[in-house]
Amino acid sequence: MKAVVLEGPGQAALKSVPELPAAGADEILLAVRRIGLCGSDLNSYRGRNPLVSFPRIPGHEVAAVVAEANPAHPEWQPGTAVTLSPYTNCGRCASCLRGRPNACQFNQTLGVQRDGALTQFIAIPAERLYRADLTLKELCLVEPLTVGFHAAARGRVAPGDTVAVFGCGGVGLGAVAGAGFRGASVIGVDLDDAKLAIARKAGAEHAINTASGDLHGQLADLTHGRGPDVIIEAIGLPQTFRAAVEEVAYTGRVVYIGYAKEQVAYETRLFVQKELDILGSRNALPEDFRDVIRMLEAHRFPVEEAVTHVVPMEEAPDILEAWSREPARFSKIMIEVG
Ligand SMILES: NC(=O)c1ccc[n+]([C@@H]2O[C@H](COP(=O)([O-])OP(=O)(O)OC[C@H]3O[C@@H](n4cnc5c(N)ncnc54)[C@H](O)[C@@H]3O)[C@@H](O)[C@H]2O)c1
Ligand SMILES: [Zn+2]
Ligand SMILES: [Zn+2]
Repeated sequence: MKAVVLEGPGQAALKSVPELPAAGADEILLAVRRIGLCGSDLNSYRGRNPLVSFPRIPGHEVAAVVAEANPAHPEWQPGTAVTLSPYTNCGRCASCLRGRPNACQFNQTLGVQRDGALTQFIAIPAERLYRADLTLKELCLVEPLTVGFHAAARGRVAPGDTVAVFGCGGVGLGAVAGAGFRGASVIGVDLDDAKLAIARKAGAEHAINTASGDLHGQLADLTHGRGPDVIIEAIGLPQTFRAAVEEVAYTGRVVYIGYAKEQVAYETRLFVQKELDILGSRNALPEDFRDVIRMLEAHRFPVEEAVTHVVPMEEAPDILEAWSREPARFSKIMIEVG
């Protein structure tokens, strides 16, 4: 069967790879239809993800259909459209034992620590599949949106809260939609007006462009001088990590999704003086998948605007190269597989 294989930094190729062995007892064989790419795939392509070794098949944002019945799982009939959770959990680490498998210490994400779904067939444990009344494009958007939905859940976002989301890229957009879905008033923050325009369509009532405006003054204006109840950081820069703690309200919650690539120095006095909840947020739980599916089924997300490129599998190597050269020209790329 065909697969897109990352063979080394900056090298991707459409290749013929061996057919899959039969699906395991608890697995369902899927025919892949479409794959979404995100920043982590770009990082892998560039050879900058320490968790990725070459050769590696990428792909963790999946739209597929059940290809073959498994008598042990009659609920998954051939032809059923699905998306899936690309994570694994060991069942024995502290996170798994606490019922938080999204943060499994030994997680292996599809397309990162193990081969992914940018190929024609994959076998996936039945418990990781989600059915939905969605188009292929929407099915591919489920996984990337779950990351921000999980952050909104971590921040215990509730009606009446004002939530500022720092960074409205692929991940932050999910946090905007997730906080809105939970009934909060959302402020999108970014440097890029195009990203902010999509954030508004995803549910942000207000948008702040920090390239042209003053973050502190505008947040104060929008919150009676108190600051947002919750700030979700989805960028990963030292200055935005710090700004989250500085701008959040007293007794507020700060949720970090961004991975900072360098050390961050803090005025830790603010943690104490404001009595803050400072939370990390990683990957997503089954309930986040179900919430995102409900939101997409209710047509509450600007799917067309969020997806900028859809290309056939043959063009995957070229579009990866173009994306790596000019990342600003692309937001969500999808690859049609079948
Ligand atoms: N915790 C997790 O489970 C998880 C999962 C995936 C990605 N991430 C992390 O989330 C972060 C965001 O990922 P992404 O794919 O959305 O990236 P992205 O590049 O698509 O989005 C980042 C956004 O931040 C904006 N931005 C950059 N600098 C800014 C600044 N100084 N002020 C305001 N806005 C600024 C950009 O314009 C862009 O819209 C990354 O750090 C990534 O590593 C975390
Ligand atoms: Zn992704
Ligand atoms: Zn575990």
